[in-house]
Amino acid sequence: MLVLGVESSCDETAAALLEETPEGGTRLLSSVVSTQIPLHRMYGGVIPELASRNHSANIPGVLQEAFDKAGRSLEEVDAFASTAGPGLVAALLVGNTATKALALAANKPFVAVNHLEGHILSPFIMREGGLVPHLALVVSGGHSLLVDVRGCGDYALLGRSRDDAAGEAFDKVAKMLDLPYPGGPEIDKLAEQGDPQRFEFPRPMMHEPHLDFSFSGLKTAVLYTLPKLVASGNPHDLDHQTLCDLCAGVRAAIVEVLVKKAMRALRQTGRKVVAVSGGVSCNGELRRAMQDACARRRVELVLPPNSLTTDNAAMIAFAGLLRAKAGQFSPLDTPVDPNLKLAGAATRA
Ligand code: KG4
Ligand code: ZN
Repeated sequence: MLVLGVESSCDETAAALLEETPEGGTRLLSSVVSTQIPLHRMYGGVIPELASRNHSANIPGVLQEAFDKAGRSLEEVDAFASTAGPGLVAALLVGNTATKALALAANKPFVAVNHLEGHILSPFIMREGGLVPHLALVVSGGHSLLVDVRGCGDYALLGRSRDDAAGEAFDKVAKMLDLPYPGGPEIDKLAEQGDPQRFEFPRPMMHEPHLDFSFSGLKTAVLYTLPKLVASGNPHDLDHQTLCDLCAGVRAAIVEVLVKKAMRALRQTGRKVVAVSGGVSCNGELRRAMQDACARRRVELVLPPNSLTTDNAAMIAFAGLLRAKAGQFSPLDTPVDPNLKLAGAATRA
């Protein structure tokens, strides 16, 4: 089975072709991502109208490149999958409508995919043995979730951020330090040269028994710390080492909470496999800390390659493939939904 995946929920226009191998595994034939980050960087964040217009301009070329790289044609595709939400509605509509049009033209089924489900399943695209029941830590720009995954479409929400998502916390602190958008990778880079112990930032809810997170206090802590370091409160007046130490302190606080809560969730669920996904999962310290924690507990850690951590269409194609194999297709009039909930998830929200 050959599946086309398309993603356009935020500021990445992406298309991928993924094929099921005769042994029942998957082979990624192409994964094309056209990022609009340099464009939105000028405004310090994503401008929805700009994102939508650029998706419209980019999508034909991205689709063509995905087919060219895979060496496949439209007629060979067995199912067409596209992100239906959550995300920016006008951005979602572009990829979604294009995919539905292709499905209609090829007279093949369409699969509406939840973006979060794409992230949850993404670590398993390359795993020998495919998807297994596991604990998922999803850390993206919009969500921080702990999910017990019993199978594709069978999710139990264990914990979520009560305010800012982890990626959002990185981005907001970075904005305060006048670092370029998106802030996560910038903080990660500077933190590599910093001392994580110089600044002790709060780790909210870390010792509470529930599995929810709270990251909004971090930006307040950084806001109060700045004027103590430079009278102007202007981040440009910080010396380079202090800036790196601040970044290391912020990264350490976020990572410690994520790892502690993930390990608590593992104990509660008794799972032997844990997977981390979403843009923040390419954070160097998070990867190292999760590797250490999982090795100590003899638990398998499944991480997506860096190229599949931030938004991509391979994860949409993979979710589409699993759903198509289960006969779960979507009618062509399935709407996009900017607040789409994870199907099959027993949510507490
Ligand atoms: O999954 P994603 O591409 O988009 C959403 O679905 O939200 O995640 C984007 C988020 C941004 O907040 C970005 O700052 C963060 O992932 N991010 C990182 C790193 N790379 C991307 N955060 C921390 N460290 C990184 N290396
Ligand atoms: Zn995402």
